[in-house]
Amino acid sequence: MKHIPVWIDCDTGVDDAVALMLAHALPQLDLCGISVVCGNTTLENAFRNTHRINGLMGTDYPVYRGAEKPLLKELRISNAFHGENGLGNVELPLPENAVDHAEKAWDALFACASSHPGELRLVATGPLTNIATAFTKYPALPGLLHSLTLMGGSAGAGNITPAAEFNFYTDPQAAAMVFRSGVPIVMCGLDVTLQAFLTPVDLDELASSGTRAGVFTKACLQPALESSKLYNLTGVCMHDSCPIMYLAHPELFEGEEAGVVIETRGTVTNGKSVTDLYSDKQFPFKNALVLLRVDRDRFISILKKSILSI
Ligand code: BDR
Ligand code: CA
Repeated sequence: MKHIPVWIDCDTGVDDAVALMLAHALPQLDLCGISVVCGNTTLENAFRNTHRINGLMGTDYPVYRGAEKPLLKELRISNAFHGENGLGNVELPLPENAVDHAEKAWDALFACASSHPGELRLVATGPLTNIATAFTKYPALPGLLHSLTLMGGSAGAGNITPAAEFNFYTDPQAAAMVFRSGVPIVMCGLDVTLQAFLTPVDLDELASSGTRAGVFTKACLQPALESSKLYNLTGVCMHDSCPIMYLAHPELFEGEEAGVVIETRGTVTNGKSVTDLYSDKQFPFKNALVLLRVDRDRFISILKKSILSI
C-alpha cells in the first residue's frame, strides 16, 4: 500500500504538525525521513516538536537538523499563530528515545534521494533554506528527485506582507534558488491553502473523539484559530497539509502550469512569488504547477479521518 516515498522538510509549527500526522496516516505515503528548518519557530523547537509528534503517533521517523537561520535575512518567528513553543503552547512530552542525528538535513536528504533515484517526493512546509543548501551542495539532487511539492508563495496576495507569503518571505534567496533549480515543482500557495480550513465545528469533532491526536489537534490550533479570526477567516487553514494531500489525492486539486520568479530585491515585494498566470505570459518558461483550487469538503473529510486513525 505505502508505495510513494516521501521526505518532509518542515519548521514544526502547528499546521506542520498536522501535516506530519496526515503523512503518517495516508496509506499511499511511505515517509522515509524528516528534516527540520527554522521558520515558524527556532530550529531547536522545530526539532523537538517533530520528535514530540513522533511520540504522539508512536513512531520513530528519523529527524535531521538543518538551518538555524535563513541564508541572508534574520529569522522572524511567528508566535501569534504557532504559540511560544511552536505547538500552540501545548506541552507534549519529548520521547526519551529521540535520536539527535549528527548527519545534517541536506546530507541525509541527498542520501535518501540517491537510494530512490527518480522516485523520492520531497515536500517542503517551511522556508526553503535546507533545500537551497542541499541543491547547492549536491547539484545532482534536483535531477534525482521525482518532484518538490511545497507550501509557499501566492499568485495573489501575501499573508506576512501585502505581497509575500511567510515561508518565501522568511528566506527569499533560498526560494529563488529552488525555483531556478529545474526540479519539478508543485506550488501550494495561499491561493489554494486558504481554501483548506478546519472550522471550530471540525475541531470540536476531532477533540470529542477522545483520541490523543484528535484532542491535540484542537488544542494546538487554538492560538492559530484566534489569530485567523483577526483576518476574518472562517477557520484555521491547514496550509501544510495541502502538499501532503496532493501527493496521495491529486484529484482533489486543480491548477495551472506557470512561470514563477521569487522577488529578492524589492522593498514592498520582498519574497513575492511573481506568477505568470494572467499576464501575456512574459516569462519564457513554466517552472511550477501552481495549485489554485481544492475540493474543501473532500480534503477536510480525508484529513479528519486520517487524524482520527492515529
Ligand atoms: C506557512 O507559514 C507558516 O505559518 C505555516 O506553517 C505555513 O507553512 C503559511 O504561510
Ligand atoms: Ca510550516
